[in-house]
Amino acid sequence: MASNEFQPLQGMSDIYAPEIYLWRMIEERARKLFACYGYEELRTPSLEKLSVFKRSIGDTTDVVQKEMYSFEDRGGRELALRPEGTAGTIRHLAGRGEEGQNARVFYIAPMFRCERPQAGRKRQFHQVGVEATGEPNPLADAECIGLQQHLLEEWGLTGSRIQISTRGTASDRQPVADGLRKALQPHLKELCEDCQRRIDENVLRVIDCKNESCSKVVDQIPSAIEFMSDESRQYLDTVIQTLEKMGIAVEVNPKLVRGLDYYVHTVWEITHGALGAQNAIAGGGRYEIALGKKAVPGVGFAMGMERVITSLENCGITAEQFAPQGGLWLVSLGDNALAENMKLARELRGKGVRCGMDLEAKSMKAQMRRASRAAAGKVIIRGDEELSKGTAIVKDMKEGSQEEQSLEEVLRIS
Ligand code: HAM
Repeated sequence: MASNEFQPLQGMSDIYAPEIYLWRMIEERARKLFACYGYEELRTPSLEKLSVFKRSIGDTTDVVQKEMYSFEDRGGRELALRPEGTAGTIRHLAGRGEEGQNARVFYIAPMFRCERPQAGRKRQFHQVGVEATGEPNPLADAECIGLQQHLLEEWGLTGSRIQISTRGTASDRQPVADGLRKALQPHLKELCEDCQRRIDENVLRVIDCKNESCSKVVDQIPSAIEFMSDESRQYLDTVIQTLEKMGIAVEVNPKLVRGLDYYVHTVWEITHGALGAQNAIAGGGRYEIALGKKAVPGVGFAMGMERVITSLENCGITAEQFAPQGGLWLVSLGDNALAENMKLARELRGKGVRCGMDLEAKSMKAQMRRASRAAAGKVIIRGDEELSKGTAIVKDMKEGSQEEQSLEEVLRIS
């Protein structure tokens, strides 16, 4: 049994080869696509003042109330490990004045939530996300969803569903809360204990409660959208119509609430059938985050990388497909060849060739075994005889053929 001494904390993972090749593919393709859409990378610290998250995500949300790793540092300051990327991003952009009001940034970073670990739910997980602060209108929301759809295509992930809804504007909050409370009142006893409390605190959370009897009640009452203004409904319609024109299919799900308080207008979630109960691979929406005097409007999304990877693997896309392949392995017959191969390896690597070798004079068989394990395309064999002639035996590992070549020719192999 593996000793705990060597394990990371519960709900956290070491990520290593071969799985890391899939991570790298996701990151590289995302960076490339983000550049096409004009997004610049932003790296904010993992640790922030607790108030950054409390003020933007919302005091009564599960993320803030139950899931944050927060503590006081030695100076008595209240800090927290970021549970998500939007709050820190907007903290940064708000500090950049005018420039920050019209920015497009992306991040690929670890996030921390002290949730009960289960399949698909981790305590350290990773998000690839974007936030755009300029152009607060429905087209920006549609473009953002379009980017996400594009990203899924680049990764080769099929079979996901986009569900969309609206949180309305700030002035819809009260009529929506009043309308829902009134509609829920006759069903109070059918709601779970948590929801009986939430009805006063944060009634929208009743709408997305996973408890079966709460869900039955919610099916019987009007949806939150029905209590919203015409303007808010029109906003959502424009997003959906724009997406239709772009050829992107979305399903309207009025029960979609999203567990973060900063949202206004459009919210969405992407789910994948390959996942179990934790089936959301991504969440996003339009928001307004007030830090300091000014509220920063923005739109963005975050995709859970662990869940994207599980979905990819379920679609038959494996890490091995992205493992580094080819390159050279230098085999040294004797100490002279070993020393000369050190020099040759340095030259080849300097030319950008993937190249490996044993660093002690082992048997030919042992060195060939390592060459196959490294998936080398070609093996370069040198002993005293080849050194004196300035040549090498080049063996093609796929074909099994071999021939003697000059050192100049070897240096041209890439
Ligand atoms: P979120 O829905 O809380 O949204 O998280 C986005 C995604 O992160 C989820 O769909 C899921 O794939 C992944 N995720 C969340 N929690 C966990 C966990 N414990 N373990 C594994 N994966 C997890 C946000 O974080 C917002 N900041 C998204 C956003 C950006 N909205 C606007 N801009």
